[in-house]
Amino acid sequence: MTLRSDQPPGGVGEGAPAARVMADRAGPALVREVEGSSERSMAMTVDTDLAIETDSIEKYFIKDGNLNHVLDGVSVSLRRGELASLIGPSGCGKSTFLKILAGLESYQSGTVDVLGDEPGSGRFDIGFVFQGLALLPWRTVLDNVLLPSEFVKMNKGEARARAKRYLSTVGLDGYENYYLREVSGGMRQRVALARVLMSEARLLLLDEPFSALDEFTRESINMLFMNVCAETRAAALLVTHSIQEAVLMSDRVFVMSGRPARVVDEVEISIPRPRSRHVMVETAFVDAVKRIRSSLGLEDAQESTVDDPP
Ligand SMILES: Nc1ncnc2c1ncn2[C@@H]1O[C@H](COP(=O)(O)OP(=O)(O)OP(=O)(O)O)[C@@H](O)[C@H]1O
Ligand SMILES: [Mg+2]
Repeated sequence: MTLRSDQPPGGVGEGAPAARVMADRAGPALVREVEGSSERSMAMTVDTDLAIETDSIEKYFIKDGNLNHVLDGVSVSLRRGELASLIGPSGCGKSTFLKILAGLESYQSGTVDVLGDEPGSGRFDIGFVFQGLALLPWRTVLDNVLLPSEFVKMNKGEARARAKRYLSTVGLDGYENYYLREVSGGMRQRVALARVLMSEARLLLLDEPFSALDEFTRESINMLFMNVCAETRAAALLVTHSIQEAVLMSDRVFVMSGRPARVVDEVEISIPRPRSRHVMVETAFVDAVKRIRSSLGLEDAQESTVDDPP
């Protein structure tokens, strides 16, 4: 069940940064406790069709006594079955936002609803591909993919068959018994993808999962990933630095500003599915790319990837 509120965030969200910092030390549980009180709960309505709904997320880090304001009122919603991308300058807070959704990072104020529940670690309905991939080097390719099955009650034979199927999906047939040090960077990314597909989660959070792939492999894995999402009706939120990739794959693209990051544009991509690389020359595709470049302040830039602002 998804709880929504039309009320502005209350409690610590209205406070000065110092109050927010105190809430952060206590972790998100305190923030939710404060916000979940009295009139606020009464104003809530139910929307079961949402995979993600965040409202006015504020996030600060404190490092060596300095306050780093990372997220400034980030509100994002994603329906079940939708594939969306998050794009914004390096260091703006995309990975931090994904970690908040996965319950791996606290936040100072705002509300977060993921598949009708609070974020929290130990949820098996959310699959996560970390920017650093978080693979286990002492394990083989197959044993890395099998990892999620070890946390749930799954028949070993069934798990191995499923893992081999997804390894084949990402083109790694025959590499099951290789150790991580024996495969390339791009192959490691494919292992991480096979592992997240293995979890057959209802929501996939992917932090630059395709960045180390060459152009050919990247396009074919893009297509494959879109097909898997369409088949399984999984929702996915993907962080990417490639505007073309975001438009090709997504139903909507959230464009973030530099730090403190806000969502400065939300672009619906209504190009019909299934999509192939041929859509990249269509007017709707080119227009969406132009709009995102403009929202990123890249109108005059030559490259369609996002990097540190000058
Ligand atoms: N655990 C942490 N402690 C302190 N500061 C952090 C922590 N994690 C992230 N930050 C800071 O938060 C800001 C956003 O970092 P984040 O990794 O979310 O950016 P990003 O948008 O994912 O960047 P990139 O595109 O380069 O991956 C940075 O200033 C970073 O230094
Ligand atoms: Mg990142």
